[in-house]
Amino acid sequence: MPAHANSSVGFRFAGVGAALPEKIITNGDLTVAMDTTDEWIRDRTGIGARHVGGSTSELSTLAAREALERSGLAPGDIGQVILATTSPDFICPGTAPAVAHALGLDCGAFDLQAACSGWVYGLVVANGLMLQGLVNILVIGAESLDRITDYTARDTGILFGNGAGAAIITQDPSAKGQVLGWDLGANGAHVGILYSEHDGVLQMDGKEVFRQAVTVMQRSTHASLAMAGLTIDDIDLVIPHQANTRIVDAAWKKLGFSHDKTVMILDRTGNTSAASIPLALADALADNRLRPGDNVLFLGFGAGMTWASMIVRWDGTLIGTAAW
Ligand code: COA
Repeated sequence: MPAHANSSVGFRFAGVGAALPEKIITNGDLTVAMDTTDEWIRDRTGIGARHVGGSTSELSTLAAREALERSGLAPGDIGQVILATTSPDFICPGTAPAVAHALGLDCGAFDLQAACSGWVYGLVVANGLMLQGLVNILVIGAESLDRITDYTARDTGILFGNGAGAAIITQDPSAKGQVLGWDLGANGAHVGILYSEHDGVLQMDGKEVFRQAVTVMQRSTHASLAMAGLTIDDIDLVIPHQANTRIVDAAWKKLGFSHDKTVMILDRTGNTSAASIPLALADALADNRLRPGDNVLFLGFGAGMTWASMIVRWDGTLIGTAAW
């Protein structure tokens, strides 16, 4: 991979929001549709329930509105919308313009498709746009995966659900926050291990996805740590893509991360692809798990295969109100 250096301006997470549709499919519900048990699903994946319903634009708008309200910013302050999704409302146009319109924004808006790595890809793009002068950027990860999931299939039907998470990042030279390191990757040789055709449902070679995920999580973590000049011990909190607790367990065993520094919401949400990391971030904030100055690692992987990581020094000071 070509070498790249880090460059970053001072910034903070000015607001974070989350949205999950009301309807829930529990593991118990799935036992009616397929030959499975709650115990097997929990044991093999860590998942207890997943949310379904709502469209990607609806869920995005709910999460982004919450992020906007928490930020204290006005709609007119937002300079760009990046919407990471693998389940857009339409093939054409993108979903981001409709979300920007629903929020009353007047700025650029585009979709970003990097599957489950999408939101972290979005953060890296947003950092680049901040370097070009944009001040407030809305980065959303949102999915309505129930549209491409067969809930009678024993491999994929147990995994996927809907949801959205959104963050507004704000350039501020006086902020403690900084991007310390990042890494983006893709290996199209593995397109065939997790995909959906137009009007189809997700098809997956679960074992191979598992193997690749464990490998790329290690690779990407090391790449971001190297750029940041940090070690594993310097990371205060890891927010990994929520796909399977056993994937995280296997990668952590090799990397040496501890579980008490890890945010996991998989039990309640299932795999929400591009939404999973911002949803977990919102959860970590609700649980008061982030302190100004913490080194936070966002770590994604997904279909493609794609992978993405970013280490930020956390500054989540809200405008005009208390810190997170
Ligand atoms: N419920 C109960 N039993 C099941 C089952 C289910 N939903 N699915 C498979 N089984 C059974 C199989 O029939 C098999 O039984 P046998 O040993 O008697 O033949 C056994 O469990 C193992 O099946 P296998 O397909 O090898 O399961 P696995 O251990 O690979 O687990 C996944 C399947 C999907 C949970 C696992 O491969 C996985 O999570 N992979 C990663 C997927 C992922 O995270 N994708 C998104 C990435 S972004």
